[in-house]
Parts: sequence; C-alpha cells; structure tokens
Amino acid sequence: MKQDNMHETFDVERIRSDFPILSTKMNGKPLVYLDNAATSQKPNQVIESISNYYRTYNANIHRGIYAIAVEATDAYVDSKVKLAKLVNAKGMEEIIYTRNTTEAINIVALGWGGANIKQGDHILITQMEHHSNLVPWMLLARRNGAVLDYVKLDESKSMLDMQSLEEQLENEPKIVAVTHVSNVLGTINDVKHITRKAHDHGAVVLVDGAQSAPHMQVDVQDIGCDFFTLSSHKMLGPTGIGALYGKFDILDKMDPVLSGGDMIKSVTFSDVTWNDLPWKFEAGTPDIAGGIGFGAAIDYLNGIGMKSIRDHEKKITKYALEKLSGIKHLKTYGLGKEDLERRGGVISFSIDKVHPHDVSQVFDSEGIAIRAGHHCAMPLVEEILGESAVSRISFYLYNKESEVDRAAQAVELVKKTFKVG
Ligand SMILES: Cc1ncc(COP(=O)(O)O)c(C=O)c1O
Repeated sequence: MKQDNMHETFDVERIRSDFPILSTKMNGKPLVYLDNAATSQKPNQVIESISNYYRTYNANIHRGIYAIAVEATDAYVDSKVKLAKLVNAKGMEEIIYTRNTTEAINIVALGWGGANIKQGDHILITQMEHHSNLVPWMLLARRNGAVLDYVKLDESKSMLDMQSLEEQLENEPKIVAVTHVSNVLGTINDVKHITRKAHDHGAVVLVDGAQSAPHMQVDVQDIGCDFFTLSSHKMLGPTGIGALYGKFDILDKMDPVLSGGDMIKSVTFSDVTWNDLPWKFEAGTPDIAGGIGFGAAIDYLNGIGMKSIRDHEKKITKYALEKLSGIKHLKTYGLGKEDLERRGGVISFSIDKVHPHDVSQVFDSEGIAIRAGHHCAMPLVEEILGESAVSRISFYLYNKESEVDRAAQAVELVKKTFKVG
C-alpha cells in the first residue's frame, strides 16, 4: 500500500502545532492528553474541512443537481474512496459509513447474523473483546438460540491462546469476531492467521479495527477478513462517523438493516428494490459533515504515513514501559517492551492499594488526561485480570517523551498522596 510522506523525518512538534487543543491548559497545567484509545484529538485541517462545508457548500447529498449539492456529494463519496484506499478495500462499494464501530458490528450481527445464525449454531469471539464486539453477539445468540463461545487468553493473560482457538473452531462456528488490537492490553492479534484458520472451518470473520486502523497500516485484503470495523473519532476525524468494510459478495447478499430514504432503487405501493452498494446500508441523510471531516483526517494520516505513526508509537511505548517498570508498587498489564511488534500504544496499569479513579483524579489535577475503569471490557478486567478497574494511558502520533515523564511524576504524586510504599 503506497503511503505519501510529507514529513521527511517524524517532527512531533510540527504535528502538535496542527492540534489547537494541545496548547491549552487543564486545571492550570499544560494539557497532556493520554486518552487516545477513547478518542483522538483533531487537527486544524479536520476542523476546518467541517466548518468549510457548513460555511460554503452545505447541501444534502445524492439529491440536488445544483452545484453545491454536487460538491457535497463528491466530497462525501471522495471520503469513502480515501478510506477504501487506506484499508486496501477493492473499492468504495465495500465501505459503509456508520455512526461508529459499535454500529458497524451491530449491522453485521443484525443483518448477516440475523439471516445466518440459527438455533444451536456457534458464534466465536474472544475473552479480550470490547463490549461492542461482545454484547451484540450475546444478544444475537439469545435471540436465535445460538451458543456464544470464547477463545481464552493464555497464561500471560496478554495473548490469545491459539490452542483454545483450535479447540473452539472444532465447534464449526458460523462467525468468528475478534479484535485486532486490545483496548486494555494493547495486544496486536495475528488476525491474518486467525482469519485463515476460521475460514478453513467455514466461518465468516469480523475484525474489530477500532484500535488498529488509527495506528498502523491495515490491509483488509491481506488479512482476508470478511468484515472490518473502525471509528473516525479515534483516528483524528469527527465523532458520529465510522465504517463497516465488507467483502462485496457478502454485502451484496445481505438485506439492509435500516430502511427508508436513499437506500432504495425503486419503491411501489407493494414492493421495493435496494440501492447499489454501499448506499443500500445507509438509510436517510448520512453524517455528511462527518464523512467530509473523516476524509480530511485520512488525508492527514496519509500525509504523515501510517508506518511512521506506528514507528513513533512503538518508540514512545517502549520509553513508557521502561519508565513505568522502574516504579515500585506499579504493575503494568499486557506484553512487555521486548514484545513491541505484538503490542500497540495502550498501557493499562494499577498502583498498589490505590483505586484507579483516585489515580485518574491526581493525574487530572496535574493536567494529564488518562482513563480509569473497566474500559468497556468488564469480563476481561474483572474475570481475567481480577481487578474491578485499571488505569490506562494510550498514545498517538502527537505524544512525546516529556509527556511520559510528566505521567511518571504524577504516579509519584499518587504514591505520596496515598502513602504507598
Ligand atoms: C477495541 C474497541 N472496539 C470497539 C470500540 C467501540 O468504538 P465506538 O465507541 O467508537 O463505537 C472501542 C472503543 O473504545 C474499542 O476500543
């Protein structure tokens, strides 16, 4: 996949200057934003593209034949073409815009699952899924009388157990749904291998790319998966828009999930025919501004280069793991710094006897935004890690080592405040 690279070297200060929020303060201290797994910040280019649409060519798409309606339609479609290229789909027909990853997975569970999952069928997911890739399958299983199975984690509690995958595949699941990168552990799963194994057993495969698409080169054809899902707001784009990639032949056979305007080719008083892909799945006026903003975010990511972004995150994650591993009474979860090839820039941690909400509050008072809780992965955090909650820092292209230093200082402040050690 070709990547343009406008920056000869990765210039983090130059990148930061594009993000207005990064020069603001929180609680009187320069903001350190380390909650990128929850949502990313937005560069001026994205903010301006949305404002420019509303200021100069706001019109509904696909309908008008006047100039600004054509301009809006072109910009929205163009965004899909860009996303198709970014993830190496065969074309924009395979890219359905949704509100977010959650909605994309629900479309598969309701649309594909509703038609294909029958009483007694098996659905296979893993123990490290976000609720978005767990609850829709649990509901589908309950509704259709299917069985929901899980691939276990191995002894490291960081990786999927490939023996468990093999065993579960013996049940011949109809679908295997797996996260590409865990939002709690940071583990990068070998989704290409999992897809091949699942296909060998006749299963359809969905990969949840919410935490991978923003941070690394994704090639859906190389992975071979049937569905891939992502959220714009985690990859520099606006909230309210995400995407479902699906192989053309599968999407073509699926019935739409939502219906109404725009998704039809023709309607009579007694019948209806569906619009072409991808529009068959986008009922009603879509998030036009969101789509346009997402297109600008993809331009920005391409300008830096996904490989450079991944390399930068690997470096900062290594630095952070080294720094944190030297702190007594602090435990990190997930793979260590020697496993950076299999690990993204998400580091969950806990400090002896201090509740993660207290940790987060001290960080907040220092101007540092981190996340504390179960991270929408309650079964993983509670039943596998044995914690009620954990703290989490997560990086993106604009984070720098001095911000890790400030986080480490905040940890010392937590320990002092709560008399740890
Ligand atoms: C792995 C994973 N999957 C799914 C989601 C859901 O994304 P969204 O809330 O944008 O639908 C998240 C969000 O944090 C995630 O980390």
